[in-house]
Amino acid sequence: MAADGKKAKSAAAKAADPAAPEASAADPKIRGGVTDFGFAEVSVEEKSARVREVFDSVAGSYDIMNDLMSLGIHRVWKQAFADWLAPRAGQRLLDVAGGTGDIATLWRKRGGGPVTVCDINAEMIGVGRDRMMRAGGDDAVDWVVGNAEDLPLADGSVDRVTIAFGLRNVTRIDRALAEMTRVLRPGGRFMCLEFSRPTQPWLDPVYDTYSFKVLPWLGDRIAKDREAYQYLAESIRRFPDQQDLAERMRRVGLEQVKWRNLSAGIAAIHSGWRL
Ligand SMILES: C[S@@+](CC[C@H](N)C(=O)[O-])C[C@H]1O[C@@H](n2cnc3c(N)ncnc32)[C@H](O)[C@@H]1O
Repeated sequence: MAADGKKAKSAAAKAADPAAPEASAADPKIRGGVTDFGFAEVSVEEKSARVREVFDSVAGSYDIMNDLMSLGIHRVWKQAFADWLAPRAGQRLLDVAGGTGDIATLWRKRGGGPVTVCDINAEMIGVGRDRMMRAGGDDAVDWVVGNAEDLPLADGSVDRVTIAFGLRNVTRIDRALAEMTRVLRPGGRFMCLEFSRPTQPWLDPVYDTYSFKVLPWLGDRIAKDREAYQYLAESIRRFPDQQDLAERMRRVGLEQVKWRNLSAGIAAIHSGWRL
């Protein structure tokens, strides 16, 4: 499949090209060449290097940390995501920021067609590929190192594009959304699973304590990297809320945009169609 250096950029992708002056304006995360890295501000160039360092550092313990820090709830959220995604045998999936391949595995287990897992981090992909090999391997799963902001796939080449807990880490969210829309065929669907804004105020103090005390402590003890998990907590707070993300999806041309909250909005699933 899929990897194609000769891709032609769609109007949506061009509109979100940071080389164009209007593009920075289109991505409110970027202010004069500076963007968020958690609560810190770094240059746009530095952000992807810092994110890569985070996932280099945690790749080996990523799966166990996910289970520990979410008490296994991330599995329930991913099952809900797969329920809504409803894989079919004839469909080709691109899972962006696919990491260790949880979404690809669920897609295949539920009868979906071929998958490309694309992630900027070779370490994460390596852990995922090894895990899949140990489970018996799957020739229909392709692992590609690539950036969500500049996907190595042709226009209109896939039926479904997913991104789970990845968009938060991307420097130019609007550009990544435009890219993921570009590679979808007309009639194809984009779905995003991401941390979002809790809808119950009583949850805030518990959630804050958990995020800023327990998570970095767990990161220190298990992954031996407190800062990586401090970044996780901070990046969640910086990510657009449900409504804002839906607006950004519409702006790159996705239609029938909807979302569903999970666990009172701690996470949310967004869906949109390229018509
Ligand atoms: C929290 S992990 C999520 C992994 C997997 N999707 C899951 O749900 O378990 C975030 C992933 O995003 C990847 N990532 C960060 N920035 C990226 C980018 N610009 N393009 C592609 N992948 C990116 C990281 O390397 C990491 O594997």
